[in-house]
Amino acid sequence: MSDRAERRVREEFDTWAAEGRGERMAVGHRAAVEQALERVPIGSGDNALDLGCGVGWACHLMRERGAGRVVGVEASRGMLARARPAPGVALVGASMTALPFRDATFSRALSVESLYYVPDVNLALREVRRVLAPEGRFIVMMDLYGGSPVASQWIDALKVKVHLLHPPLWRRRLERAGFSRVEIFHVRDPRPPLSESEFTPSPWFLTHADYLAFREAGSLILDAQ
Ligand SMILES: C[S@@+](CC[C@H](N)C(=O)[O-])C[C@H]1O[C@@H](n2cnc3c(N)ncnc32)[C@H](O)[C@@H]1O
Repeated sequence: MSDRAERRVREEFDTWAAEGRGERMAVGHRAAVEQALERVPIGSGDNALDLGCGVGWACHLMRERGAGRVVGVEASRGMLARARPAPGVALVGASMTALPFRDATFSRALSVESLYYVPDVNLALREVRRVLAPEGRFIVMMDLYGGSPVASQWIDALKVKVHLLHPPLWRRRLERAGFSRVEIFHVRDPRPPLSESEFTPSPWFLTHADYLAFREAGSLILDAQ
């Protein structure tokens, strides 16, 4: 069941990749991820993992911030095919529910808008905990979470099922997977929002007011250790 559901997600993101949405996500997600990563020291001794890395832009970002080595894990072949290679960055086609790495391989892990797509999200969280060193940090960024003003619109617009969890439930799941310290906060995109005349309605933001509410709420960040 879970295999079939994972395949459905993979196929959906192959379609997104073919439509060029992998590159567009970098533009939408980068400001929030940069702010989240500011809290986490990253140096040449760090081995970092990006789960559901899409076209790999956040792998490059972690390298630019000084990580010695970065591995991106991505289920969609379409996304991987569009990823740009770079020294110190390896991209692996795999599911985050079965990470092909030994225990405690990484000191940093990141997941950007990817965790809630995984049908067996508890298994994915246990896998992240397993491959992270005990003192390792796991940073999660999400724009779709319980309490987000656009959650119901996004769920209607998506062609796959997602986990819509309020932040305290994410905390509980992380703790159950073995993380002992979980901090939760929001970050806002510092760029000025689109004006009403620049804004085009879409299934994601039906009205300009919806878009402004989304910008005001910001992205959810989970910082777990
Ligand atoms: C919304 S995209 C975000 C991509 C990227 N993190 C970004 O911000 O541009 C979600 C990504 O998670 C990937 N994904 C979903 N389920 C996955 C799984 N079980 N294992 C690995 N990747 C997965 C999808 O293929 C997709 O590329």
